[in-house]
Amino acid sequence: MRGKFITLEGVDGAGKSTHLGWLVNYLRTQGRTVVQTREPGGTPLGEKLRELLLHEPMHLETEALLMFAARREHLELLIKPAVARGDWVVCDRFTDASFAYQGGGRGLSMEKIARLETWVQEGFQPDLTLLFDLPVDIAAGRMAGAARQLDRFEREKADFHERVRATYLARAAQMPARVKVIDSRQTPEQ
Ligand code: TYD
Repeated sequence: MRGKFITLEGVDGAGKSTHLGWLVNYLRTQGRTVVQTREPGGTPLGEKLRELLLHEPMHLETEALLMFAARREHLELLIKPAVARGDWVVCDRFTDASFAYQGGGRGLSMEKIARLETWVQEGFQPDLTLLFDLPVDIAAGRMAGAARQLDRFEREKADFHERVRATYLARAAQMPARVKVIDSRQTPEQ
């Protein structure tokens, strides 16, 4: 039987990483074989592209193309084979992030992103997407508490993150069967 493909999304600082580990453990206690992965990344080449994407300044279309190049590799090498053998795949970010960050945040045309999506995914979509939603000022406050160096996206100004959040919420409203919004102002247990 085919496995499921679940993606986690949200603005930076919304707490998706906290929930990822919990979700993977929960599914394992339910007897599922779970592959935990992330985007950009998830393959040796994808992780190299991630380094560039997170730290190297580049044209916004280059950024979108590299996101989808990493995604192509990820789908062929890891995600599709895992789902085909019956494993469940839990992925930290996927194509909704390209619409939210490159489209909403940076202003790349949604139509161009949709064309890349069609090319790279050929109709393949997550079975479920959990969108962790949090007002941008609260998310920024949570990130400020982190000791590590911020990446190129995390360093963007509040209005960038507002557009990212609004794009995520609009997509959730358009695709309510796939995208479930979780209010991240709640405690993790809630
Ligand atoms: P993130 O998932 O937040 O990882 P960490 O928790 O380690 O910071 O970082 C990935 C960044 O990549 C995030 O800021 C959003 C960005 N991103 C895009 O802009 N487009 C995409 O298609 C994907 C998958 C990620």
